[in-house]
Amino acid sequence: MDQEEESRNGDSTHNHSHSHNHGLHHVSKKPKLAPLITEPDISAEFSHHQPGVARINNGSFGSCPKSVLAAQREWQLKYLEQPDDFYFNTLRKGILKSRTVIKGLINADDVDEISLVDNATTAAAIVLQQIGRAFAEGKFNQNDTVVMLHCAFQAVKKSIQAYVTRAGGSVVEVQLPFPLISEEEIIKEFKKGLEKGKENGKRIRLAIIDHITSMPCVVIPVGKLVKICREEGVDQVFVDAAHAIGSVKIDVKEIGADFYVSNLHKWFFCPPAVAFLHCRKSNSSPDIHHPVVSHEFGNGLPIESAWIGTRDYSAQLVVPSVLDFVNRFEGGIDGIMERNHEQVLKMGRKLSESWGTNLGSPPEMCAGMVMVGLPSRLKLLSEEDASKLRGHLRVYFGVEVPIHYQASKEDGEGGARDKDGIITGYARISHQVYNTLEDYEKFRNAILRLVEEKKVCKMLLTE
Ligand SMILES: Cc1ncc(COP(=O)(O)O)c(C=O)c1O
Repeated sequence: MDQEEESRNGDSTHNHSHSHNHGLHHVSKKPKLAPLITEPDISAEFSHHQPGVARINNGSFGSCPKSVLAAQREWQLKYLEQPDDFYFNTLRKGILKSRTVIKGLINADDVDEISLVDNATTAAAIVLQQIGRAFAEGKFNQNDTVVMLHCAFQAVKKSIQAYVTRAGGSVVEVQLPFPLISEEEIIKEFKKGLEKGKENGKRIRLAIIDHITSMPCVVIPVGKLVKICREEGVDQVFVDAAHAIGSVKIDVKEIGADFYVSNLHKWFFCPPAVAFLHCRKSNSSPDIHHPVVSHEFGNGLPIESAWIGTRDYSAQLVVPSVLDFVNRFEGGIDGIMERNHEQVLKMGRKLSESWGTNLGSPPEMCAGMVMVGLPSRLKLLSEEDASKLRGHLRVYFGVEVPIHYQASKEDGEGGARDKDGIITGYARISHQVYNTLEDYEKFRNAILRLVEEKKVCKMLLTE
């Protein structure tokens, strides 16, 4: 067995004994012996990926295997065959089954705490609209605050503008130190942010905490931050865990937030687009609604979300099929997660060693993605440079990877350096089951070539 098989599929045992029991992911009641997925099977499952392209950006859009796409097609046909029957007898039950699978995976108390929505952006609208309404209806004082990380996802920041600041709320942004060496650095900054949020007698109505930030990517000590929020009297906590399910273990009870969203189409192999939103039963605001109002308005978020008008619900219905897919791998989704973590670190270290740079955070603060410093000789000095390099790598080298610009601090302190200067560019690499060593070698060689040819970002073509 070669290294790559190990990376995709655990050890070489061709039998495994984990549960196929939907919704009871942690419990193995009836061990079944089924053949593990093989290398050719994995390649076949992802054979729709554009050949010759190094897709090392699973983090942005995820991936969906052929067997799950086939299951999705079956649901679509089932609906088209007999829509009345599907609507009255099948849809609601199917969605409940998917929600039940999720409940088992995230250790929720009750399936009624789980709604399926399109994506993390929709979940943010759900949570922020109820905050906006409370401002608009005078339940909150003007200038009461929302606290979040400065690198919160752009769509979430825009939603705050649209729903909260417009209605009179104010926002405090907590700087995420980067590169970083320990979670203490984040905790310290977060506490400062909460202090700021409470200045002049204001109340913090909502804290938004990413579980894994998008750019730069860092696994945030989310349980600890939620606890601090509780101690500091924050009303509600919303965890934006868009990248979490399938890349880190989730225990919503342990985390203890009011709202927790994760996309299922990023690291959990669902087709686009589906996410779960967990709303803790005991949360203080029952005024939670889907932004698209339809027949089920007022019947609770899970039911509201299960019918928001005529549309394709198949992505929400394939969750049990995804479980079947991941259970073909050694250790199921947990095994996939562990191997992705190990492999992305290994690949990240290889790249940083060959470029003479650094990794952006310690191993325990990474999941299936890691930030790798780019040689300072590329002179990546702005957001525009970052997007030029990204475009150039895609068009001229067939490498799909997001690039981050990290401004160096004015005092020059805290940033990482290579032999030529301060590192202000980072690549976010992902590892998913379909990736191979060649994908990362292709990326490594592309960067080495640009450096060798004395290219700097400004001069790079993108078409
Ligand atoms: C942290 C974070 N939040 C929210 C989102 C938005 O996800 P979606 O586009 O599926 O709504 C993303 C997507 O990358 C993300 O990384």
